[in-house]
Amino acid sequence: MTQPQANQAQAELWNNQAGQNWVEQNAMLDRLLAPFEQPLVEAVQGARDVLDVGCGAGATTFAVARSLGGQGRCTGLDLSVPLVELARRRAVEMGADNTDFVVADAQLHAFQPARFDAVISRFGVMFFDDPVAAFANLRRAALDDARLAMIAWRGMAANPFMTAAERAAAPLLPEAPPRDPNAPGQFAFADPDRVAGILSAAGWRDVDLAPLDLACVVPAQDLEIYATRMGPVSLVLPSLEPDRRHVVIAAVRRGFEPFVSDGVARFTAACWMIKARNSD
Ligand SMILES: C[S@@+](CC[C@H](N)C(=O)[O-])C[C@H]1O[C@@H](n2cnc3c(N)ncnc32)[C@H](O)[C@@H]1O
Repeated sequence: MTQPQANQAQAELWNNQAGQNWVEQNAMLDRLLAPFEQPLVEAVQGARDVLDVGCGAGATTFAVARSLGGQGRCTGLDLSVPLVELARRRAVEMGADNTDFVVADAQLHAFQPARFDAVISRFGVMFFDDPVAAFANLRRAALDDARLAMIAWRGMAANPFMTAAERAAAPLLPEAPPRDPNAPGQFAFADPDRVAGILSAAGWRDVDLAPLDLACVVPAQDLEIYATRMGPVSLVLPSLEPDRRHVVIAAVRRGFEPFVSDGVARFTAACWMIKARNSD
């Protein structure tokens, strides 16, 4: 019997609807997530060969490559073809010669062994079917003593902005399944003990999770896109018949109102900065 390939559901999502949404909304997402670039840049100062896992359209790959200049390279890896194609187009436009982009699954990819001296990710590591296998695979790609620095979301309760749409839509979409907190997805790394256990089981050492709380500002036009085009509710909207869809969208818009003042939404992104070392 053939084994089902790992991460099929996520590969399907990120190569289709979610990937297309992220491609179309890349400018908005890069503005929204810009505050998360600097902590990763600082975490890999002095590195020469950096891997960016789940790089999407490459914002953090470019930020790290810029900071390393001629002394270093950053390779973005992602299983989404449309997002990697966008990242490659952007690299050409920017003349980002010290970047490379690879379409691959980080859990399964046959990396060149012991190549990278740092591994980073901005919200790209919460989607593995088998996170221990994925982080063991990433460790094989890392040099001895390589640094790991990743940003992931803390819990849903700590991130009311990120969950506003689904809270607002929940009474109108009773058929939507509740989130499984540990299933691959946005909040899968919320539990610090679980994350530390995954990394330790995969052989990473000196595991450290520190809260990273960053103030984010979303202009009105970005909020409208965010509310209707991103996240789990946006994925079910196309399947609803038009009247019901309009009712859900109106409820979602109201759900974001508490965050808006003076025409912009403000929220605190409650995340973990997760660090570790590859050492035996
Ligand atoms: C929330 S997005 C973050 C994208 C990017 N890091 C950013 O901050 O803009 C998550 C990314 O992880 C990628 N991804 C999910 N599972 C993956 C896997 N197994 N291997 C590689 N990339 C994966 C998705 O395709 C998606 O681009």
